[in-house]
Amino acid sequence: MALINIKIEGKPYQVEQGLTILEAARKCGYEIPTLCNFNKDECSLASCRVCLVEATGARGLVAACVYPVSEGMEIKISSPKATKARRISVELILSNHSFHCQQCDKNGHCELLHVAQMVGAREGKFFGEKSQTFVDDLSSSIVRDTSKCILCGRCVKRCVEAHGTGILGFEKRGFKTFVAPAGNRSFNESPCLLCGQCVNVCPTGALMEKSEISKVDEAMQAGKFVVVQTAPAVRAALGEEFGLPVGTPVTGKMVAALHRLGFDRVYDTNFGADLTIMEEATELLGRIKNGGALPMITSCSPGWVNYAEYFYPEVLDNLSSCKSPHQMQGAIIKSYFAKEKGIDPKDIFTVSIMPCTAKKHEKDRAEMEVNGLRDVDCVLTTRELARLIKRSGINFTKLPDEEYDQDIMGDYTGAGVIFGVTGGVMEAALRTAYKVLSGKEREPIEFTEVRGLEGIKEAEIDLGAAKIKVAVASGMKNAKVLLDQIKAGTSPYTFIEIMCCPGGCINGGGQPFVKPMLMPNEDDDIYETYRAKRAQALYSEDERQVLRQSHNNPQIKELYEKFLGEPNSHVAHELLHTHYNKNRERYPEKK
Ligand code: FES
Repeated sequence: MALINIKIEGKPYQVEQGLTILEAARKCGYEIPTLCNFNKDECSLASCRVCLVEATGARGLVAACVYPVSEGMEIKISSPKATKARRISVELILSNHSFHCQQCDKNGHCELLHVAQMVGAREGKFFGEKSQTFVDDLSSSIVRDTSKCILCGRCVKRCVEAHGTGILGFEKRGFKTFVAPAGNRSFNESPCLLCGQCVNVCPTGALMEKSEISKVDEAMQAGKFVVVQTAPAVRAALGEEFGLPVGTPVTGKMVAALHRLGFDRVYDTNFGADLTIMEEATELLGRIKNGGALPMITSCSPGWVNYAEYFYPEVLDNLSSCKSPHQMQGAIIKSYFAKEKGIDPKDIFTVSIMPCTAKKHEKDRAEMEVNGLRDVDCVLTTRELARLIKRSGINFTKLPDEEYDQDIMGDYTGAGVIFGVTGGVMEAALRTAYKVLSGKEREPIEFTEVRGLEGIKEAEIDLGAAKIKVAVASGMKNAKVLLDQIKAGTSPYTFIEIMCCPGGCINGGGQPFVKPMLMPNEDDDIYETYRAKRAQALYSEDERQVLRQSHNNPQIKELYEKFLGEPNSHVAHELLHTHYNKNRERYPEKK
């Protein structure tokens, strides 16, 4: 890329042609406030006007997030004119904003408050009528509070970019404008995937997960036997909430914190992931042998299951009937674990710490109940766990590393760990399918063909006794390409992994917020950098494990010997498998 000469605050710099003023300024060590801009090529509506600067050649002040640099341009960020204009922009936004910051779950992460501080804006500068506001808290996953919305449009753009579904949009016009699913429906009454990607990019608390922290408090106070499990991707990002560098795995500290929070047992969902692989690999090989629906598609991402039910009911027979790992583990805790420990399952309360908001909805599905008991009683996101730890006065970074509890379901393998990244479920399943088909372990263990953050990956895999074509997709926009092939009867694949969130669970809607403006660096695509670092944290944890194939997990073998019989047995089907709704209404009657 050709370099051009510019000046910022009178100092000369050389920057790449084609950059926006914002990008160029960041590279030169300046931070310009932003709100509607989220990332390179994403969410730039230039609607908030908090990034106004002076630039030679322009008639008035320009929005730095969209205005390109040019040869000889002189940029003034701190001139009185630019500073005043940015402050007024923020004060105008504040004048129509809720100020219940104390009760807001976004407190400490709010980009509007950060920007207000940066520009010296004061609340209450402009008075007058405020827009009418309301709260949608009908879904199990996401709460929308329009009193905190600044109409930046990031959520609208993210929904389209990630999934092509465009569930959120601007409703009405002018002073009455608000953001909502079509017809101001609840998330529950629209074909929203509940994935929380919109929550991840909201700069304020207008979109948040529906907190279930109080349910954990109540269960503990009621004297329940409270068992917690943590999903693989949580350990790759939780440290960010406590100021640790992105990509720092914090498994040991997280377990230590959960012990201190008073949970009766702390387990890794990786046990459930190993169990999923045993069931799913057996199901796949059974379908190949007996002529079942192929390609078989993974079913552990609840956002993806929502998408399939709403938009592709024709492919539901292709979905594996396996429940997701935490649901399987919840079902095992309330059956096998309860029996072994002599505890009445009604006295057990199961909590899942997940990187995902859709898991909150998943646990409430009618199918996720066996003998009148929910597999999982409560789902907390990674962010909620961080809030719980902070509330309890635990000094996270000073904690020692502790081990998961070892009894009954303490063993796990590296195959379970990589479930948290796109391609991980596929790789874990292939490790076991290879052993089942060829009778030996594959060397090397890794199937690097299905790794990487691309939206769609495909590979031909030699399983020893047979070759199969596989594909991996994350983000529903990408999944759609593979699903249309299945619908048209032209899919060349035997097995497909689909994850709802782009990049997989490491980028789930319940993960710590990525705030480019609060953590400036010179990366071209900070979002990509976050995903890559979190993914690497999981692959390195896999490499550190002695056991790296699900079928070698000793306690999984014991579970089959003592309780389930064999994979896909009758008991296994009753506890660990599910079915899907071919008639799910996209727009049910409004409540
Ligand atoms: Fe530039 Fe909003 S107009 S960040």
